[in-house]
Amino acid sequence: MTLQELKSIEKAFDVPLSEMKRIIRAFHSEMGKGLSDSDGSLKMIPTYVDRPTGDEKGKFIALDLGGTNFRILEMELKGGKNISKPVSRQFVLDRKYLAGDGKALFDFIAGCVEIFLKGKGIDKAAHFDLGFTFSFPVEQTGIASGRLLRWTKGFNAKGVIGKDVVRLLDEALAGKHVNNVKVAALANDTVGTMVARAYEDPDCDVGVILGTGTNACYREYISNIKKLHSGMTYAGQMIVNTEWGNFNKLRTNSYDKILDEGSGNRGSQILEKMVSGMYLGEIFRLIAKDLMKKKVLFAGTNIGVFGKRGCFKTEYMSAIESDHSAGLPDMARLFKKLGIKDTTLRDRQLCRNICRIVSGRASRISAAALAAVIMKMDRELSRKHTIAIDGSVFEKYPGFSDRMRSALKEIFGNRSSRVSMVLAKDGSGKGAAIIAAVAGSL
Ligand code: GLC
Repeated sequence: MTLQELKSIEKAFDVPLSEMKRIIRAFHSEMGKGLSDSDGSLKMIPTYVDRPTGDEKGKFIALDLGGTNFRILEMELKGGKNISKPVSRQFVLDRKYLAGDGKALFDFIAGCVEIFLKGKGIDKAAHFDLGFTFSFPVEQTGIASGRLLRWTKGFNAKGVIGKDVVRLLDEALAGKHVNNVKVAALANDTVGTMVARAYEDPDCDVGVILGTGTNACYREYISNIKKLHSGMTYAGQMIVNTEWGNFNKLRTNSYDKILDEGSGNRGSQILEKMVSGMYLGEIFRLIAKDLMKKKVLFAGTNIGVFGKRGCFKTEYMSAIESDHSAGLPDMARLFKKLGIKDTTLRDRQLCRNICRIVSGRASRISAAALAAVIMKMDRELSRKHTIAIDGSVFEKYPGFSDRMRSALKEIFGNRSSRVSMVLAKDGSGKGAAIIAAVAGSL
């Protein structure tokens, strides 16, 4: 590969400060549209809940559905910002549920609740309020009701779009005769993550997920949520789920376009397709495939893992960027396992450069989106903000969080020290339980 070719890839993925500033402006305009209900790429969904006080109490169950794993938790909120360590159990969601009949998906979930309660010897007479973390775009109509707008992250279960997912869960629980559990709150994972951190940290006002999918929520003045009609008190604040994964005012390149065209949700989730763990590996695969076709990468090897959509996982990119040894032997082993037997050191160096370019763009777009959200609340960054973040890309991708921090520094200068991004691991379920407690006290 000539330097020229690498340069042109770099250019296609470049997000300089001027572009981050443009993204922030476009974000603010889309946020405004979403809050007033006019067409835009940001849904800006009101959640009917605000930050907790830390004094909420009680025993709760939470369900956490948003990826290929599904978790059930039981925990006790003790007040005084104290939460017992949750007891949790993970269930694997078979792929057949992702695209099958929606009723089967909800029956499976209800069946897991039954197994969980039995396994814990929970007596059917004991009543539990349940917080349901459902990490998809849901138009909430109250703290415990909301219609699914569309599926994301490869889910496509039939007959759920347009339906109230709390009702579907309640019906499935009733079908299993689980009558002692009531769905008291519905929450997006970003909201759960933010609320779980805010229970103990009053500066926390943003929740972000950077994992299989990506999204953020933040605190907004109710008076700014123009689409909330009569019946609402206009005092106070409410958490808004931005659904930023669908933001589409971004500069896409030829690889992004191919990825979008081959996806099951063409034209949607454009930011998510440039940033999240479900797609980064696919972008790398498309670039590598292109370079192989041009015979500038892995010369003489067959196309292997690069021939098939979705086969190059983001975890492989993480592994590539973690290899710091001189001859890059770990990477050579990885490629061998993936069916590319002979790689030269130059091939491997190139692959590492490409990973850096792809993940670098993702980290800078994420930082710009985050800066836009913070500035929506506090334009001059006049106070401290804790950003609760969860997700494999933020937690595990080498250098991702550091690159986000330096991009925030470019945007905010020294004031960026007022923004602390903290890893809020597994907060989404915990937060749903806290929201169930808030719901109970309303
Ligand atoms: C997708 C979903 C969104 C969720 C995010 C992270 O973008 O639409 O609701 O918060 O993934 O899981």
